[in-house]
Amino acid sequence: MTGRTVDEITGNRRMRRNRRFDWSQRLVRENTLTVDDLIWPIFLIPGENRREDIAAMPGVQRVTPDLAAKQAEEAAELGIPAIATFPNIDIALRDETGSNVLSADNLINEATRAIKKAVPQIGVITDVALDPFTSHGHDGILRDGVIVNDETVAQLAQAAVLQAEAGADMIAPSDMMDGRIGAIRDALNEAGFSDVGIISYATKYASAFYGPYREAIGTQDLLKGDKRSYYIDPANTDEAVRDAALDVEEGADMLMVKPGLPYLDIVWRLKETFGMPTLAYQVSGEYSMIKAAAHNGWLDGERTMMESLLAFKRAGCDGILTYFALEAAKLLRRP
Ligand code: PBG
Repeated sequence: MTGRTVDEITGNRRMRRNRRFDWSQRLVRENTLTVDDLIWPIFLIPGENRREDIAAMPGVQRVTPDLAAKQAEEAAELGIPAIATFPNIDIALRDETGSNVLSADNLINEATRAIKKAVPQIGVITDVALDPFTSHGHDGILRDGVIVNDETVAQLAQAAVLQAEAGADMIAPSDMMDGRIGAIRDALNEAGFSDVGIISYATKYASAFYGPYREAIGTQDLLKGDKRSYYIDPANTDEAVRDAALDVEEGADMLMVKPGLPYLDIVWRLKETFGMPTLAYQVSGEYSMIKAAAHNGWLDGERTMMESLLAFKRAGCDGILTYFALEAAKLLRRP
């Protein structure tokens, strides 16, 4: 029995014609990753001229503010537009309410000043979430087993003003409290910082992919319970859209989806729905998975890294927070 020929089946269309040459592949390429798409998250420790490895994140270190300024210089030289800072606060300074977030001279603010002094042109994005500051590792104030929303929001808004005073260009609250975007907007405006932007971690999921980050900021042994009462259930999509709609309404300048690769459907949907600048956070667990597989020889680390970053662009991302930022920028710079 003879079936139809391939030309009969495809009606003479052959996808491979455009794929035949390097030049034609380049011509029809729909998405590209550039260094302009990268935001580099860096981890901070107090002190001077000190760095520490993070076991679960090979190649990532915690650094003191002076070295953070050096890292920012390196990033700026490579053309990376912005960095995002995350502090590992001295354990003695952590308490029930995360009060150290309200210190003008805390680690995050000290680092912002050092970075802005060394590299004024690089974007500095800071987080107001309380988890690095609380003795229980939650993003808000914990009372009788409940993360209390409104009191936390008031504190976050104050912290945002201090971060703006220290020189932060954009505040990125990752805590998922209700109403925080509007409250932070009001507080910034009242303090004379109407030009300081807000990047909302609009859709932050209660994810297992954050594991290595908790080692990085030292909350892995502190965290009591989980964050399901304030982060989004990984099963939900419509809820994420409603959550993002509130943040857009409250005045967010950009939206962020977190984690990244497992949630590209959310990136796509937010971009389609709101047409806002949309970022994704390729979180610690995503980084560590690729690093671990590459280390074992199971994946080509470089190619997997670049493919994963390109996937964000395809999904509609305008920017990507990624621990690969420096490595990727170096590759993109290679002639
Ligand atoms: C919490 C926060 C998290 C991350 C950054 N800020 C999540 C968490 O610990 O629950 C995760 C980042 C990463 O995994 O890379 N405000």
